[in-house]
Amino acid sequence: MILPIYLYGQPVLRKATEEVVEGELNLKQLIADMWETLAAAEGCGLAAPQVGLSKRLFIVDGNELAEDYPECKDFKKVFINPEIIEESEETISFAEGCLSLPGISENVVRPRTITIKYQDADFQEHTETLTDFAARIVLHEYDHLEAHVFTDRISPIRRQFCKNKLGNIAKGKTAARYKTKR
Ligand code: NI
Repeated sequence: MILPIYLYGQPVLRKATEEVVEGELNLKQLIADMWETLAAAEGCGLAAPQVGLSKRLFIVDGNELAEDYPECKDFKKVFINPEIIEESEETISFAEGCLSLPGISENVVRPRTITIKYQDADFQEHTETLTDFAARIVLHEYDHLEAHVFTDRISPIRRQFCKNKLGNIAKGKTAARYKTKR
């Protein structure tokens, strides 16, 4: 089932998320719905708060970007209860967008390499090191679990520039090509 994507201005995007406990949610169904929602919206990542659920869970699918960014090839995963355990000092600035902020694209500075610990859909624990665009997608989704959106990380001048667009999204005046909750 395709779920509506909660847009900027919805309080759930600014709420602290809770750990996922094994057995507490119909996790299989939720993850299947999130994959369907992500594919329909043609995005590369979706976090639980973006479908209205304040839980520490996100999915990523970098395959669409694999032609330009080889590190994204077959990078399709579920991250449950993730924890960033290391970030490189080296950073990269690159344009980002977000399904919860339609029509906005801004450069965001992020670490080039990260190490992340997480559980998969079977609650098996993994630790992985990711670079470049794979790291960027994960850090963007991880931000959603920390009640942040990417425009929190842009310069004050750029944020001022986006103010009207953000205001319009929050007022429900911005249309998206996918199902939304606004
Ligand atoms: Ni996002």
